[in-house]
Amino acid sequence: MSLSLFRRGLFASLMLIVVLALGACGGGEDKATEDSSESTDSAEVSEKVFKISHVTQESHVWHKTAEKFGEELEKLSDGKMSVEIYPASQLGLEQDMIQQLETGSLDFGFLTNAYMSTRQESLNAWFMPFTFNNLEEATEMRTSEAAKEMLEELSSQGLVGLDFMFAGNRHILLNDGHVQSMDDLKGMKVRIIGSPAIQTFWEKTGAGPTAMPLPEVYTSLQTGVIDGIDIDLDALATEKYYESAENLTLTNHMTFPTVIVMGQPSYDALSPEEQEIVKEAMDNAVEWGVEEAIKREEENLNELKELGVNIAELEDVSSFDAVTKEVVEEYSSKSDLIKRFLEEAKK
Ligand code: BEZ
Repeated sequence: MSLSLFRRGLFASLMLIVVLALGACGGGEDKATEDSSESTDSAEVSEKVFKISHVTQESHVWHKTAEKFGEELEKLSDGKMSVEIYPASQLGLEQDMIQQLETGSLDFGFLTNAYMSTRQESLNAWFMPFTFNNLEEATEMRTSEAAKEMLEELSSQGLVGLDFMFAGNRHILLNDGHVQSMDDLKGMKVRIIGSPAIQTFWEKTGAGPTAMPLPEVYTSLQTGVIDGIDIDLDALATEKYYESAENLTLTNHMTFPTVIVMGQPSYDALSPEEQEIVKEAMDNAVEWGVEEAIKREEENLNELKELGVNIAELEDVSSFDAVTKEVVEEYSSKSDLIKRFLEEAKK
């Protein structure tokens, strides 16, 4: 063999080693980088610690689902993959989390569907009023064709949509009195989470919706800056808002999902086998989380009753019919996916 042929052969072999080594890295922080080749049995699954972030407290069912994902991941990867969870917006607001997901400095986000509905129109489907009578009905739509399409649409934002998980359905907590019919909301300053469809619904009820992040809610209720809040029972119980306002009307007017996403750079850096492990672990965790959220609906309600919260059912549900129809028509005409989601939900 000539010297130049030998050199070319050597160069090609070196390049191959570099390419293979790069392919094995990324998607989570690699543990024990120096000896990672020795510490793994299979070339397709390497040691990784993934970062997950979300906005709720550690007692909230979204956090528990993230923990469950970590357990499933460790089990399915023979202990090679694990998670670090950053709750309560520790890594910043949801817009900051998106940037971190885009750059690969964060691997997973449990993002509120409310925030994500400001970035992707179809996600407003989940907020069509009075679509679901209870949380079970809402969770059944998680595996619908329309929901899967919504997750796929997220790829245009550099995100891999993995699943939807749920907090409880939304109800209304007021400082004074209950909501017997929609008229009782006229002029009330009600805290909402920012989202196009939620804003539209609340404006049409005649209330004064005030978008506000969760950490400001407790004090705003206490000081009378707002008259009430649109909230799920899990957040109400874990954030103790009943200490400031004690009249809860069970309305089930909307459901409240989180969109679970992985950043595209983190996902692309995984081998096909690792991607499968991630998907299976998340599916197992969310299956568990959905059951847990449904169980918590009843437990939270019992706990709130025991704590002396004044609880009543919405008497005149039909007083919301006209507004519901207007919201559904408006958003169905904006997005065919929303229309199809609602058709599937009615089946
Ligand atoms: C809220 O802002 O209302 C909220 C956010 C996350 C979980 C539950 C509630």
